[in-house]
Amino acid sequence: HRHLLGIEGLSPLDIQALLDLADQQVEVSRQIEKRKTTLRGRTQINLFFEPSTRTQSSFEIAGKRLGADVMNMAVASSSVKKGETLIDTAATLNAMRPDIIVVRHHAAGAVHLLAQKVDCAVVNAGDGAHEHPTQALLDALTIRRNKGRIEGLTVAICGDILHSRVARSNMILLAAMGAQVRLVAPTNLLPPGIARLGFPTFTDMRKGLEGADIVMMLRLQRERMNGSFVPSVKEYFRFYGLDQEKLSYAKPDALVMHPGPMNRGVEISSDVADGAQSLIREQVEMGVAVRMAVLEALASHLPNG
Ligand code: CP
Repeated sequence: HRHLLGIEGLSPLDIQALLDLADQQVEVSRQIEKRKTTLRGRTQINLFFEPSTRTQSSFEIAGKRLGADVMNMAVASSSVKKGETLIDTAATLNAMRPDIIVVRHHAAGAVHLLAQKVDCAVVNAGDGAHEHPTQALLDALTIRRNKGRIEGLTVAICGDILHSRVARSNMILLAAMGAQVRLVAPTNLLPPGIARLGFPTFTDMRKGLEGADIVMMLRLQRERMNGSFVPSVKEYFRFYGLDQEKLSYAKPDALVMHPGPMNRGVEISSDVADGAQSLIREQVEMGVAVRMAVLEALASHLPNG
């Protein structure tokens, strides 16, 4: 593959190969000397049109650990603010001959469009409510390292599924790897027509978490709600917020995940987020490893790579 635009289009073997490579990168990242040379002489541009803490910083660290020159485009102070379009911005950056562009954009499909306009490899770091492939890969790596497998596990994805690219990429990846995926959400936070995809859906946390090995919580994405349906925080937490009581509905050895950023007291309580069953910090560590694996895999397809 020349780009990584989504989990859709990756085979189970592609996914497994990336996770195996990421396992090796975890070891690299835990050494005192973390620097590899796979991307030496290469230029990586991070182009983030939406805010990010984890994804942007881990792509920067991942690129640097592989020896790339990494440039973070400061979109907020760029000529995007003077009306330059996504495509003109991409063409401008393309003329500087980068090898890899990592893009986050608020519009679904924007990263695919950009990939058609540039000569270099493009990585999707989140496009609207469409896909966030490296998040799904890092979640899969975290699950595999803690449970020893993905196949046969029951994973409950809970919360604002309607607006979540994380949920979408995870649904595709986890199903491809043989997990039993369930969706737990109020009806108005489920995408219309979701039933066609065949995932069991629940509106009740007790039923939805019963027998779950993994409880994956999602942030309520109020910035994508356009005022249509904004639930009250208090009511949402009461019915859908993961606290110790609701977590007890899942298997006793269930593990808790959240892609971040978390809103404590909205979709998850602090004691669960910081508790013994939480993998949230480990997900962040795996994020660097997965992004190193993705960049290294793409490097082998770069000209003269
Ligand atoms: N999980 C995730 O994508 O976090 P950021 O928005 O902070 O990158």
